[in-house]
Amino acid sequence: MAVLPIARMGAEVLKRRAAEVTDFADPTLATLVNDMMETMIDARGVGLAAPQVFRSQRLVMFFVPPSRNGGIAVPLTVMINPVITPLSDVKDEAFEACLSVPGLTGMVPRHTTIVYSFRDLAGAHHERPASGFHARVVQHECDHLDGVLYPQRMADMTSLAYADVLQAEADAAGKELELDEEG
Ligand code: NI
Repeated sequence: MAVLPIARMGAEVLKRRAAEVTDFADPTLATLVNDMMETMIDARGVGLAAPQVFRSQRLVMFFVPPSRNGGIAVPLTVMINPVITPLSDVKDEAFEACLSVPGLTGMVPRHTTIVYSFRDLAGAHHERPASGFHARVVQHECDHLDGVLYPQRMADMTSLAYADVLQAEADAAGKELELDEEG
């Protein structure tokens, strides 16, 4: 296992559409997944997409801490060739952060409820509903496969900020601030 370098905004690999995974027997796929897990944990992220480690393949992973999902964790999920279907046009806004855009945070509208499908490492097909933070993380990670970073999804760029500045100002004002983990 190895901690891989993380691509930051500006890198070409973050701008292009990643390729479908077609060969599930490719032994380098499992190695990539293991290395991505180690990289995500090392960076304290809740999600990571293969283009973020300079591999332009449709592969992402994420998990949802129980504190973010009504006390119920969504365990670490590795998704290959994921597809998202919004269940309505309703969106809500929350702060997001990204390991490829370090230090910054911004308010991003995302579909509130979705269904997503994907293949696992063995090639088996899965389908799950998701809402709230769970739905948000999945949308954020899958955007990386289409060359989209969260600032491109922001409706109001005035909320783009350094997370430590927002936190310091909230602390000084005695306010609670809910910032998302990075993905
Ligand atoms: Ni990200």
